[in-house]
Amino acid sequence: MSIKAPEIPYKIYLSEEELPYSWYNMRADMKVKPAPLLNPATGAPMSAEELGGVFCAELVEQELDNDTAYIPIPREIRDFYKMYRPSPLVRAYCLEQKLDTPAHIYYKFEGNNTSGSHKLNSAIAQAYYAKKQGLRGVTPSPSPTTAVGRKILEEFPGTTGSLGCAISEAVEVAVSNPGYRYVLGSVLNQVLLHQSVIGLEAKTALDKYGVRPDVIIGCAGGGSNLGGLIAPFMGEKLRGEADYRIIAVEPASCPSFTRGKFAYDFCDTGMICPLAKMYTLGSGFIPSPNHAGGLRFHGMSPTLSQLYADGLMEARAVEQTAVFEAAELFARVEGILPAPESAHAIRVAIDEALKCRETGEAKDILFGLTGTGYFDLVAYQKFNDGLMSDYIPTDEDLARSFAGLPKVPGQA
Ligand SMILES: Cc1ncc(COP(=O)(O)O)c(C=O)c1O
Repeated sequence: MSIKAPEIPYKIYLSEEELPYSWYNMRADMKVKPAPLLNPATGAPMSAEELGGVFCAELVEQELDNDTAYIPIPREIRDFYKMYRPSPLVRAYCLEQKLDTPAHIYYKFEGNNTSGSHKLNSAIAQAYYAKKQGLRGVTPSPSPTTAVGRKILEEFPGTTGSLGCAISEAVEVAVSNPGYRYVLGSVLNQVLLHQSVIGLEAKTALDKYGVRPDVIIGCAGGGSNLGGLIAPFMGEKLRGEADYRIIAVEPASCPSFTRGKFAYDFCDTGMICPLAKMYTLGSGFIPSPNHAGGLRFHGMSPTLSQLYADGLMEARAVEQTAVFEAAELFARVEGILPAPESAHAIRVAIDEALKCRETGEAKDILFGLTGTGYFDLVAYQKFNDGLMSDYIPTDEDLARSFAGLPKVPGQA
C-alpha cells in the first residue's frame, strides 16, 4: 500500500531560533487559581520562607507565581535545551494508514535525549537553579538510607515503591542536610511551567501549517507532560480565543482523575510534605504490583486538578493490556518503541482516530509521545509472553485509602 501524499512533512522541525525564550505559565490565565500548598502542621498556606527549606529560591518564586504569564528561560538552560530541542512534531502518516482513518494524527516526540523522556526539560532547569544556589545531592528510592524509607520498607517488604515514596525520602534528605534541596519531576507548578516548552514548540510547528488540533491527548501520572503539552492551547481556551478538547489518560489501576477525590492530601507516602489540593486516591494508595505501565502516582498536579474540576478538560482511564497493544502497533508502524507511560496517550489517540473512521471526520489529533520504552523491555516481554494482566482497584480498595485523607478545615 502506498503512503498518503505528505502535504505536511512527516517531521516538522523548528529552528534553534524558534525554541521558546520564555516558559508559559497557565496559572496566569486561570480564573480559579490552583489551591495553595498547605503546611500540614498549621493548615495555613505555605509561605515562601517555609518552601525555601525544601526548594531553591527561584523555584519557590515560580511555584508561587500565579500571575506572570511568561517567565524567561535563562540563557544557560536554553543553550542546554538546544542539545535536543526543538523536538520534532511528527505526522503519524503510517499509523493513520494502518488505522484507515481520515483523522490526522500528530505527536510531539520527547524521547530524543539521554533520559529518553520529557523529564529532562524540568530536571535541567531545577539542577541549574540548584547549582546557581550552591546546592548538591542525589537519592534513590525506595531506600534504607532514610527514616521514612526504612518505615515504608518495613511496612511493605519488597515494595517497588512509587513516586509518593520517593518524594518522602527526598524531602527528608533535603530538609535534614544543609546544602540540599528537593527536586521533583512532576506535579508541582514549577515543573509544569518548565514543561511548557513542549506545548509552545508544538503550537509553533502546527501554526506553520495552519493546523488547529481538535483533540489534544496526553498521559497523566503527576501531570507534568500533559500540563506542558496543553499549556499554550489551554491558555487560548482560558482567554476565550479558541476551544480544544483536552484528554488526560491515566491507568485504570491508578485512576486519580476518574475515581479520585478532589481534596487536600499529602503528595508523599510518608506524609511529611506540604498538603496539595488535587485529585487523589489517598497518599497510602500504591498501585497493584502487576502494574507495569508507569503513571503510579496517587495524586495529580493541582493546576490540572483545578482545570479538570472546572470542566476545562476530560479524563479517561485505560487498562494496561490495551495500552501495550497500542504501543506494539505504534512501534510496528511508526518505528519508535514508546514508553509504556506514553502509550496511554497512544491508546486514546488510536481510539479517537478509530471513531473518526466510523464518522468519516478528518479531525486533527495531537498527542504527547513523552519517551521511549527501551528501559521497559521486561514489561514488553511480559506482554508478548501473554503474562500481563489488568487490575482495577475495587471501591473498597479506594475507600480504605480515602479513609487516610488528612483532616483539613473545610474538607469533609
Ligand atoms: C516517559 C514518561 N512519560 C510520562 C510520565 C508521566 O509523568 P507526568 O504525568 O509527570 O508527565 C513519566 C513518568 O514517570 C514518564 O517516564
